[in-house]
Amino acid sequence: MRQKRVAGNWKMNGDQAQNAALLHAIAEQAEKTTAALLVCPPFPYLLQAVAALQTTGVEIGAQDCSAYQEGAYTGEVSARMLADLGVQWVLIGHSERRHYHGEDNALLVEKGRRAVEAGLKPILCVGETLAEREQGLTQQVVAAQIAPFLEHFTLQELASFCIAYEPVWAIGTGLTATPEEAQAVHAAIRAQLAEVDASWAEQVGVLYGGSVKADNAASLFSMPDIDGGLIGGASLDAGQFLAIANAA
Ligand code: G3H
Repeated sequence: MRQKRVAGNWKMNGDQAQNAALLHAIAEQAEKTTAALLVCPPFPYLLQAVAALQTTGVEIGAQDCSAYQEGAYTGEVSARMLADLGVQWVLIGHSERRHYHGEDNALLVEKGRRAVEAGLKPILCVGETLAEREQGLTQQVVAAQIAPFLEHFTLQELASFCIAYEPVWAIGTGLTATPEEAQAVHAAIRAQLAEVDASWAEQVGVLYGGSVKADNAASLFSMPDIDGGLIGGASLDAGQFLAIANAA
């Protein structure tokens, strides 16, 4: 039985006061949820989240990390710095990084490498655009985003990964893949992972992301290969986020 996990990706939102209220509400309810919880605040607020959630079991993720270890890379944040703050997870290859910042698979493999070296657990984000879905390319696109990681990481390293399937057309749009559409992609992802190792594939968490809300979470999370969610907009509202967590 895989652990259900619900991760909140705050993206570039919040300030110290808003975060304090959100973190307080999450901290108060965290013990009551059956899903493992994780929040991914912007870099400047990671320490605030670490401090607020340290006794709650809620884990902290960063939204990105540098592909470099350290040195003259102005504006970059290294995986080692994140680990030093008490961060446990890092998103790798979120579609907004791929599309707005031109991050390709080669760069993302390097980011994954830095994350693993630092002891962070990567959440590898994959997903197709609307045009790709309409051309029937969904599974091909997703498989091509995952394949470089299966090639460059050992099974032991891959054991710390989660995958997040996020159809790009569903992110922040209010459109959601139906549970059946999402399940079909999740099952294909798990089949691809099983080519590396069948028992590992059964254990990997594969999260769904893309306009998950309190009212559609339960039907998505009831699918056999959907192990929880990566939540954007709804994770900024404590009531929504906790209701989603309780649906897992
Ligand atoms: O990382 C989260 C995803 O991009 C989903 O965002 O829930 O606002 O659609 P959303």
